[in-house]
Amino acid sequence: MQAVLRGLCEDLDIPFQESMLKWEAGPKPVDGVWAPWWYKNVHKSTCFTPAREYPLPLPSSLYDLLEQSLPFYNMLRRKTRRISSITGPPLPTPSLPVPANEKILVWVAGEIVPRDSAKVSVFDSVIQGGDAVWEGLRVYNGKVFKLDKHLDRLFDSAKALAFTNVPTRTEIKGAIYKTLNSNGMFENTHIRLTLTRGKKVTSGMSPAFNLYGCTLIVLAEWKPPIYDNTGGITLVTATTRRNSPNNLDSKIHHNNLLNNILAKVEGNLAKADDAIMLDKDGYVSETNATNIFLVKKGRVATPHADYCLPGITRATVMELVVKENLVLEERRLSLSEFHTADEVWTTGTMGELTPVSCHDRRSRYWGRRSWTSDSAGTNCIQKSDRRTRGAYTHVL
Ligand SMILES: Cc1ncc(COP(=O)(O)O)c(C=O)c1O
Repeated sequence: MQAVLRGLCEDLDIPFQESMLKWEAGPKPVDGVWAPWWYKNVHKSTCFTPAREYPLPLPSSLYDLLEQSLPFYNMLRRKTRRISSITGPPLPTPSLPVPANEKILVWVAGEIVPRDSAKVSVFDSVIQGGDAVWEGLRVYNGKVFKLDKHLDRLFDSAKALAFTNVPTRTEIKGAIYKTLNSNGMFENTHIRLTLTRGKKVTSGMSPAFNLYGCTLIVLAEWKPPIYDNTGGITLVTATTRRNSPNNLDSKIHHNNLLNNILAKVEGNLAKADDAIMLDKDGYVSETNATNIFLVKKGRVATPHADYCLPGITRATVMELVVKENLVLEERRLSLSEFHTADEVWTTGTMGELTPVSCHDRRSRYWGRRSWTSDSAGTNCIQKSDRRTRGAYTHVL
């Protein structure tokens, strides 16, 4: 009680006094005829009367009123000073990696809303079972890089999972452009595009409960490439295996990301930037978030897309490798081939083309050689990749 009062005084900029904690208990005769009822309510709201542990059932006649007034109540509640709660003191508000993302607008199910209001229903399939598909997109010079290729993969993923009432390509593009324009995002932007199977009429697994159509989310954030694409990143080999087509086909870009998240946990614990995931037979498939390439004696190689996601950046880089007249192999690659490679790099929309400086604590001495003279080197393809992205222009 004292802490609350001290906090209140601090907020109101008035000095706290011990005497504020004591006053004569009412009701007093001078308080008038309504005093007993008034005091009863005050005692309840100030917690002098112990509160019920669990609330009374809500009369159904009040449901509509609750629905209308709750957003305002919650808005006020967010502004209150919380001294204690059932779960202990609240965690301090974290700072965002890019503070400008505090005030972004997000597309959720047909509406553009501020960050804190961007929510899906608890009945949504993505909550009920991770039942959603997604794409990561990047904006260069006012244009979404390879948008149609990403949408092709999104539609293929949705079709493979038998989604129904999927929005059209034009509708999705419209939602993306409206979101980007509303935020004034024409550069340095990454979009997390999610399409869930939609809201269910009741909780459960069956898509037969999905009678509202899909939910589309366009989350655009200010985000420069996330890796150190000059100095390189470190990788560690995870014990968690990549999904095989026996259980969940990696060609579907779905939201069941737990096996990749477990690999990322291993990477974090090993203090590496990311983790390499093997397939069920022990061959390298990809990292927890990117595709992977190696260079050995002038030949570029990448694993078959049997266990990895057939990445759009992977495909772009493969085209560039051929265009630069380098030898390209797409085949099963073992871990020892990566350990003994001359160069290793990863590819993905989020981080673009990223050199690997160290894998399983085996250093690649990235940056100590003259990569410009290396015709089959990471630098050569990285430069070619940057030229491709730089030439990608269209005003939204
Ligand atoms: C597991 C995984 N691998 C690779 C990639 C890279 O794919 P893309 O180049 O299409 O972004 C992603 C990106 O979402 C991914 O999640």
